[in-house]
Amino acid sequence: MESPFKADALKGKVALLTGGGSGIGFEISTQFGKHGASVAIMGRRKNVLDDAVSALQSLGIPAVGFEGDVRKQEDAKRVVEATVKHFGKLDILVNGAAGNFLVSAEDLSPNGFKTVMDIDSVGTFTMCHEALAYLKKGGQGRGSSGGGLILNISATLHYTAAWYQIHVSAAKAAVDALTRNLALEWGTDYDIRVNGIAPGPIGDTPGISKLVPKEINSKTRDYTPLYKLGTKWDLAMAALYLASDAGKYINGSTLPVDGGLWLSKPRHMAKDEVKQFSRTAEKRSRAAPSGVPTSKL
Ligand code: COA
Repeated sequence: MESPFKADALKGKVALLTGGGSGIGFEISTQFGKHGASVAIMGRRKNVLDDAVSALQSLGIPAVGFEGDVRKQEDAKRVVEATVKHFGKLDILVNGAAGNFLVSAEDLSPNGFKTVMDIDSVGTFTMCHEALAYLKKGGQGRGSSGGGLILNISATLHYTAAWYQIHVSAAKAAVDALTRNLALEWGTDYDIRVNGIAPGPIGDTPGISKLVPKEINSKTRDYTPLYKLGTKWDLAMAALYLASDAGKYINGSTLPVDGGLWLSKPRHMAKDEVKQFSRTAEKRSRAAPSGVPTSKL
């Protein structure tokens, strides 16, 4: 699909994306690049990074890949520094690296819980921490705010509760807290905007194939208000909106991009039935009011 944004929406910006070599992260890398940004991607798998960088470069996007694990502070520091060395600055940090697997709370070991917290929550904070010195100076010009931008990829699981996802729910709740607290502190002190995106079920991603069996996957459509799975493009457009000047007054928000799925509940009564039920119930209550008789008031 064609982007509704101008091709120079991120012109001159330098973005570093963790988990930017595959899935949603790669689509955001691609769209940022197509809209003028230079793109550095960080990931653990060299072959994934190499393929992603070649694909970006074949689109004419200045791109570079750096191996690293967000759980290691020395990796975070090295990759942030290498990005700045390569492109001269850093304007945008996208924290997309995440770990996930389905497991019941009963079967999850504390180390399994900790592993996901370490990648998603601590990893996000570590990247922000290492990038701060550069983001303070980033994002200058084109009417945008003074500093750079951080975009945290979250989820909607923890808005209510999610089966077999206690570790990810806890980790993403922490990510949302980071988004708000950094937006407050670094927005005030350095004009750095910190926002998040909470994807729902997005077709054709490692998340959906790893977490949702095919037969359930097709049922998801029945519960989704907009009645379809999302696409990586939907996520990337939301990221562009938040990263571009269109989002320059948005700070501390996590935008759910899920077609309204997190709000959904099974319909307990048909639309026609509810009219009938509601009118009948109203008539009944007028005919026989309960409680204190009006003559005694
Ligand atoms: N069910 C239950 N526990 C699991 C598990 C599963 N499917 N996968 C891993 N764990 C537990 C392990 O048993 C281990 O705990 P233990 O030491 O008490 O046994 C702990 O998690 C760490 O596992 P390990 O395989 O050593 O971690 P890793 O660092 O190699 O891998 C993961 C990290 C587990 C998150 C891995 O799934 C991963 O890296 N995935 C790629 C990213 C991804 O999932 N993306 C999807 C985004 S939606």
